[in-house]
Amino acid sequence: MRISVFVTGLILGFSSTFAGDINGLSSREGLSLNGDWKIIVDPYENGYYNYRWLPFDAETHASRSAYFMDSKAQSPTDLIEYDFDKSKSIQVPGDWNTQIAQLYYYEGTVWYRKKFDYSPSENKKQFIFFDAVNYKAEVYLNGHKLGTHTGGFTPFYFDVTNRIHKGSNSLVVKVDNKRLKEGVPTLNTDWWNYGGITRKVRVIETPENFISDFELKLESVESKTVNGHIQLSDTTVGVDLVVSIPELKKELKLKTNDSGRVKFSFNTKKLELWSPENPKLYSVHITTADDELSDRIGFRTIRTEGKKILLNNEPVFLKGICIHEEYPVDGQGRVNNAEKAKQLLTWAKELNCNFVRLAHYPHNEEMLRLADEMGIMVWEEVPVYWTIDWTNEDTYKNAENQLSEVMLRDRNRASVIIWSLANETPVNENRTKFLTRLAEHAKNIDNSRLLSAAMERHDKEGEPHVYVVEDPLAEVVDLVSFNQYTGWYGSTPDLCSKIKWEISYDKPVFISEFGAGCKQGLHGDKMHRWTEEYQEYLYEETIEMLGQIDGLCGFSPWILVDFRSPRRVLPEIQDDFNRKGLISDEGIKKKAFFVLQKFYSEKE
Ligand code: GCU
Repeated sequence: MRISVFVTGLILGFSSTFAGDINGLSSREGLSLNGDWKIIVDPYENGYYNYRWLPFDAETHASRSAYFMDSKAQSPTDLIEYDFDKSKSIQVPGDWNTQIAQLYYYEGTVWYRKKFDYSPSENKKQFIFFDAVNYKAEVYLNGHKLGTHTGGFTPFYFDVTNRIHKGSNSLVVKVDNKRLKEGVPTLNTDWWNYGGITRKVRVIETPENFISDFELKLESVESKTVNGHIQLSDTTVGVDLVVSIPELKKELKLKTNDSGRVKFSFNTKKLELWSPENPKLYSVHITTADDELSDRIGFRTIRTEGKKILLNNEPVFLKGICIHEEYPVDGQGRVNNAEKAKQLLTWAKELNCNFVRLAHYPHNEEMLRLADEMGIMVWEEVPVYWTIDWTNEDTYKNAENQLSEVMLRDRNRASVIIWSLANETPVNENRTKFLTRLAEHAKNIDNSRLLSAAMERHDKEGEPHVYVVEDPLAEVVDLVSFNQYTGWYGSTPDLCSKIKWEISYDKPVFISEFGAGCKQGLHGDKMHRWTEEYQEYLYEETIEMLGQIDGLCGFSPWILVDFRSPRRVLPEIQDDFNRKGLISDEGIKKKAFFVLQKFYSEKE
């Protein structure tokens, strides 16, 4: 088959993403591009590769039949075999799996197209900002390639200044959610591979020299000193800027250095510290002659001392629960608005939680802003999950980039106290090298929060009822966290009382998962798997067993709500759902919910 190929304009590889400006951009509202988008499902990537499997958007292979051209035929001889205007529509933000029945299991490419009118302001910059696209995005504006982003759960943006049209614009995104051995996550996960532009899209306009990054954090409870930095997009030296916190009657007049950056420090006796009991947030305003940004920031410290976690120098027990970014009630999928995020955190509050583990990937930014407001501490995690391709440098760079993006996005969120590097990864030399390198990277960005990873426990040699944690990664992280499923995988809850634990690190111990599956409404004997009584019994026995661990600083049982997974196919019980939720996919609480709720209400 020959496709008429001719150059329809040089496809410029435009300036693509640079994580550094994320939090200076993400906190601006911009023009929303949410709503109806047109889509073309393209399982053979016909709109991206020609019949010789060469990419159309490489400079030498431009052609009309590439879907990103979104253009009609130029002459009678042209063969155009697609038409966005006559194609299906889909909602953005949202996954395609639960919006379009034929795409329930689909893993591959879907082309998205949004037409929008714009009127760029004079002497301003314009960016197109994506809160997340799962998994790989190739982005084009008006037929020109802006760039590519890999990673399904972190924000990215493109500078479209002088590219965006006054009047009508056509934004085309090739979204590909295929799982890859070298991906992050890799081929195998226990969650649904929801594809799509799953979070919001905006056009953000800024002054030419804008506030691109900022951070404020409390140095220590004793000093009540707040340290911070502000970075402008331009490296002009001597630019005047003001940081003000009206409620503290603080106003600092500052000047940038020759990198366009300024560090500052101030002391304030009146500061109210952020905590779950008092989630105090201050309005912070940053202004320059051309720009202004505001944010609501809480000030607190988090650190460990021996086997204790200290929040504002006080020992704290993390009364947690794990949460996937999914709201399955009425057949829905990925959380795609603040109301669903709020419902999940409200259920966590009803459970008397002061902590949530956002598994297994960065959740949407609304979740973290709500956690700040609601006084819920947070564990954030990158999807370095199970058997990642440890020796692949591109895989490492991908993981590192995703970690940078979430850390820069959430650096001013008081609720975030733990950065997690991984989940249930095998103990071997390549994995520990990979994660140690990632840990160093994390500490270089932010050494004010705790570092952890969900590790695993093992049987002690020759003593099957003595459980140990022996993992070189435990030497690297601040918290010894691990998942354990005594009473579910390979045993029943009555085993819990026979277990002894030997955890020899002088660090706090956190159980990042335990649980059992049950079908809401199925009742029977407590030793009958899949009944609510079995799950309830497992919670009772596990909480009792964990109480004996020296240095236990909390736990986050698996999981708040039943969630979809292609690995969970037991008819009439699972039906594509992992049933370890304390709440069903219909939003109904199970008996174990009340066991945990009672324990947390009575736990100091
Ligand atoms: C693992 C894993 C989870 C998974 C859970 C389960 O620990 O971390 O992602 O869903 O166990 O088996 O249900």
